[in-house]
Amino acid sequence: MALTRFIVKDFRNLEACDLTLSDGFNFLVGANGSGKTSLLEAIYFLGHGRSFRSHLTSRIIRHGQDELVLHGRVHADGEMKGDLERPLGIRKQRDGTTQVKIAGQTGQKVAQLAQILPLQLITPEGFELMVGGPKYRRAFIDWGVFHVEPRFYQAWSRVKRLTRQRNALLKTARSYRELSYWDQELAQLAEVIDGWRRDYIDALREQASAFCADFLPEYEIQLGYYRGWEKTTPYRELLAANFERDLQLGYTVSGPNKADLRLKVSAMPVDDVLSRGQLKLLMCALRLAQGQQLRQATGKQCLYLIDDFASELDSSKRALLAKGLHDTQAQVVISAISEEQLGDMKAEKGKMFHVEQGKITAR
Ligand SMILES: Nc1ncnc2c1ncn2[C@@H]1O[C@H](COP(=O)(O)OP(=O)(O)O)[C@@H](O)[C@H]1O
Ligand SMILES: [Mg+2]
Repeated sequence: MALTRFIVKDFRNLEACDLTLSDGFNFLVGANGSGKTSLLEAIYFLGHGRSFRSHLTSRIIRHGQDELVLHGRVHADGEMKGDLERPLGIRKQRDGTTQVKIAGQTGQKVAQLAQILPLQLITPEGFELMVGGPKYRRAFIDWGVFHVEPRFYQAWSRVKRLTRQRNALLKTARSYRELSYWDQELAQLAEVIDGWRRDYIDALREQASAFCADFLPEYEIQLGYYRGWEKTTPYRELLAANFERDLQLGYTVSGPNKADLRLKVSAMPVDDVLSRGQLKLLMCALRLAQGQQLRQATGKQCLYLIDDFASELDSSKRALLAKGLHDTQAQVVISAISEEQLGDMKAEKGKMFHVEQGKITAR
């Protein structure tokens, strides 16, 4: 899949842009404050219905305007015979109203946009994956499960809901009997989700090791999966056994909502051992592995959004990342302050865009 055309209206400082993108590399070059991150954020917004910089709509809609509008044309290839072009659109108003349109039909869900437009984001702030809380790594795992397992989205939404309900009941319950009926469904779904997540990490490991060996040849990185509760106990039994503790704390302590990816090097957490530049390479290796795995498992290609390409990387490391991106054959949108930072990559089949005060021109 590739985003072949992208139209922006009133997103941050981008008043109106209409871009024809390459299905290979796209470079955004411009000074600080010109609108590079805003464009990447807008593409992300089309694929997620939200931003990676702010959850406040009022920050994202261009000052003085009532709504933002984004349109994209997605070209499906590989898995779908007969090249298919699908138009996607999202409109968001200041009062929070969101309208999603797919192939001319309104009233579609944001999750369907995500399905059609698998995105991988690499930003200078992306270190959360290695140094932040488990929720970032859970999101990493679930990105993969979402795209390979069509039943995941509904099952996971249900688990979150049942867990919230359970936590509310824990505030008033007097005996486990009041919870055990709900726990049946919760436990059954939790086991299924655990199975999907485990299978995904098992499937990812090979690609992740290959990218890590390229990017960080001096280390051996281990990817461990923690399902959110102890290995040997079925979740149903654990919920019953932990009732008193959960009751005292007022929430469900263990479960699939605590799952995590354990990243280690020589049995130590990666952030104790690796430098920032190395952590960035590790993040890139993991994200490239996800794209590769997705392509092998489903034939779907993901789009990489890479903000401030050069940050934290010296020129040899930039070359490594460029090669990794090239090898995945994915569509890529990369921002940089100057063409010089892009090094040899400019020679790639691709398009160069100049960004200046919210105006984007192709060269
Ligand atoms: N809602 C908004 N309306 C108009 N301009 C905005 C809005 N939000 C941010 N900006 C401005 O957009 C400009 C571009 O920001 P950004 O995309 O982060 O630049 P870059 O990544 O190129 O450094 C900044 O000058 C910022 O002040
Ligand atoms: Mg920026």
